[in-house]
Parts: sequence; structure tokens; C-alpha cells
Amino acid sequence: MVTPSSLNTRPKTFGICGGAFGDEGKGRIVDMLVHELAQVGPVVVYRDNGGANAGHTVEFPNGQRVAFHQLPSGVFVKGATVVLGKEMVIHPADLLEELRQIEAVTATTERSKIKLDEMALLSLDTHRAFEAVLKDWQSGGKGSTGRGISPAYADVLLRHPLRVRDIVNFNQEKIKKHYDMYAALIQGLGQDLATVLVPTLAGESKKVGTRATFIKRLQSDGEALKKITVDIHDWLDQQWSNENCGFVFEKAQAVGLDYRWGIYPDVTASDTTLSGIFSATEGIINPAELEVRAGVIKATYMSSVGARQLPTIMTGELADRIRKDAHEYGATTKRPRDIAYLDLVALKFYAKVGGLNSIMLTHMDISYMDKPIKICVDYKIGKKSVDYRPDQDYLNRVKPVYVELKPWDPMLVARAKKAKELPKEAQAFLTFISEKLELPITLITTGPQRDQTIWLV
Ligand code: IMP
Repeated sequence: MVTPSSLNTRPKTFGICGGAFGDEGKGRIVDMLVHELAQVGPVVVYRDNGGANAGHTVEFPNGQRVAFHQLPSGVFVKGATVVLGKEMVIHPADLLEELRQIEAVTATTERSKIKLDEMALLSLDTHRAFEAVLKDWQSGGKGSTGRGISPAYADVLLRHPLRVRDIVNFNQEKIKKHYDMYAALIQGLGQDLATVLVPTLAGESKKVGTRATFIKRLQSDGEALKKITVDIHDWLDQQWSNENCGFVFEKAQAVGLDYRWGIYPDVTASDTTLSGIFSATEGIINPAELEVRAGVIKATYMSSVGARQLPTIMTGELADRIRKDAHEYGATTKRPRDIAYLDLVALKFYAKVGGLNSIMLTHMDISYMDKPIKICVDYKIGKKSVDYRPDQDYLNRVKPVYVELKPWDPMLVARAKKAKELPKEAQAFLTFISEKLELPITLITTGPQRDQTIWLV
């Protein structure tokens, strides 16, 4: 008889997800982990959700900066294999541009292998156009990045998605039908698909164009993507069976942007939690088997870009100071980010539904000696303490309850190399956050340089 057994975790496996509202600095942590794992064996870096709505910038020693939106971190690590997984929404032309930028800055020998799952979804200019036109009709969706993410995911539920294999094997009829359907939908909303302006990777706008140009472009993009497109299933299964192989899952966006758990309706359309790994890998990898399941959070504040209204929004001089010191402007849209006080009620909820077993804190150097660190520890509606709920209307009614902790000298934090070198106020802060979230804090970053990272375990 088969009896239930407890799941063992597998060494050298990491799931890294945004624990708040995105832009927490996951990329840098993933990059570091991939470098470390690649010293001792093969490593797979897997991204399973979102598309060109994400963004992180890599700076090269020569000062050159490359912004990535679809490729995960670790792409410059020799010995790593980077996978763009099944539940991502891929914009082919933008991806090819990212690949060109990589080729321009590195030799093949200095970078990872890249594999694109042929089952990954496409998010095209048709989706971007539809999203732009639909905005005039929707009550939600106002904060989106305009990268056509939600229409691309909606296509799956409507059972007519285009996948990478449809352009690589060039299914002209299917692509034609796709264009015609979006042309009809957009016409129904009073506009002409060919002339709708959509954003490009560089942030400029261009017209979608006629059906003939759209199809021709996809045909050539499909041809160009052939060299990285694969049926990933069996290969992934083999890597997971190889105990020497390290795995780093880099989730895009963050749990506070998840379509079920984030502040609805200004949410993205993908599963931003670790559970998405199970469906993207078709059950090969159960996220509960990952040894480290970490949520990354900014240590002393939160940032958010979009239309959502955070209960702990910060205004005035301190918010401006943080925005300036921590460069809080969107990597994809360049929008100034909202700054908010740390909200432990929401963050605890996100840690639970995100499937996390630990927390990593970035930006420990954002602390001002003249300002106590204000932290939300409870919500009230009237006199009653209430929980977080994933709903903007509900959250508009809650009143945050704050405590204040002592700040620390950011210079001392920036110089610290070990936990015990941190100022005592910073140590007290870490203990407080860990106890409130009921999770260990395993890593902190103390400044922008790669070596300004301290493991706490
Ligand atoms: P969408 O993903 O473009 O549909 O945007 C939905 C919401 O998620 C908007 O408020 C975006 O600003 C936000 N969002 C999407 N991706 C990111 C990200 O990578 N960082 C921060 N916010 C994001």
C-alpha cells in the first residue's frame, strides 16, 4: 500500500519571488545565486511568468547598461541555462532585440545558453493595441504597462492563444485569424487596428500596421527564434533528476501584483507566486521541493508603480528623498514609483499565499537618522482589527496602525560585512520584521555593489 510521505526539499534549489509590489531587487539576488551555483556545477535559471512588463538593468564594468524585460537574470553566467518557460507571454520582436543587445556586449563563451519553450504564449502588438483601446472602456487596468500582458493571458482562457511554436512552425492561417479577430474587436470599440499606436521596447510608439506586414514580421521573427526554441519537457525532467544541477526560479512581478492576491483591480494577469512553477513545468517541479523559497522585500519601505492605492502610502519630503536616493522610477515605463511605509499586514498575507519559507531584504541602507522607521502592524476598520484582503475597495476603508523603530546610520550598514557588524538598531529591526512575518530573514543587501550582500544564515 502506498502511504503518504513528507516531501523532501532538494539542495541547491531556489525560488525567488517579489514579496511586495515588484522592483524589490530580485534580479541582483538571482544573478548572485546563479554565479555561485555555476562554480560548482550546471545550473538552470527558469522564468515562468509575465513578459515585457518586467524590467531590470544590468551594468557592465565598462559602464554600458542593458535593460532586460523578458530575459531573466543570470543570462551572463557561463555554465547556466536560462529558460523562458511555458507560462510566459513572449513578444518576439522585443525578445530578439534583447538577444541582439546581449550579443553586442558579450562573446558567446561568456554567457549562458538560452532556451525558449515552444509552448510559451505570445503577447503581440495586437494585444498591446487591444489593451490600449480597451482602457477607455474598463474601470480597472488603468495602471498597466501597456505591454499587452492581460489580453495575451486572456487568449488562453478564451481558448485561442498563439504560442511560440505557431510562429516558429509558421502557421499562417492561425496568425491571420488572430489578426482578423483583434481587428474586429478593435473596430467594434471604434478604432482601426492598423493605426493604433503601441509601445516599442525603446519606449517609443509605433503603428501596428496592416495584416500583411504583421504576418511577414512574425514569419521572420519566428525564423530568427528557431535557434533557441525547444520542446523543453524531457530536457527539464532530466535536469531535475540530476542532483548536481542547481535551479533558480526567478519569478517576475510580485505577489502584491498577482491577479488573485494583489490589490485588485490594478494587478497583472499572471501567477506571480511560487505555485506557478508547478503548472509552467507541467508538474515536473513542485515548488514545495525547493530548498529556499524566498520573498524579496525592500527593507524599510515599499514602492509601487501603477494605479493601486496602498493603505500606507507615504507623501511629502521623506517619500521624495527615498525616491531620489533609491532611484525609484519604473525600469519599463520610467514612471516615478509611489513610496509607502512597510505594511506587515499585507506582506504577511503575501508570504503565506506566495508559498515562502524565508525573506530577503534589499536596500538596508535606506535609513535616515532624523526619521524613525514607521511600520504598519495592523489595520482597523472602526475599532476592529482586520486582515488584508485582495481588493482595492476594501483596502480604501482600512486605517493602518503604525509602530516606530529607531533608524540607523546608513554608512555603517553600507560598510558592514557580517551581521554582527550591523548597528544594533538595524539588528533590532531585522528581529522585529522576522518575528512579525514569522519567517527567517536569510539575506540582506546593504548597498548597490555586488559585494554589499550579507547572508544571515
Ligand atoms: P500589466 O502587467 O502591464 O498588466 O500591469 C498591471 C499592473 O502591474 C500595473 O500596475 C503595473 O504597473 C504593474 N506591474 C507589472 N509589471 C511590473 C513590474 O515588473 N514591476 C512593478 N510593477 C509592475
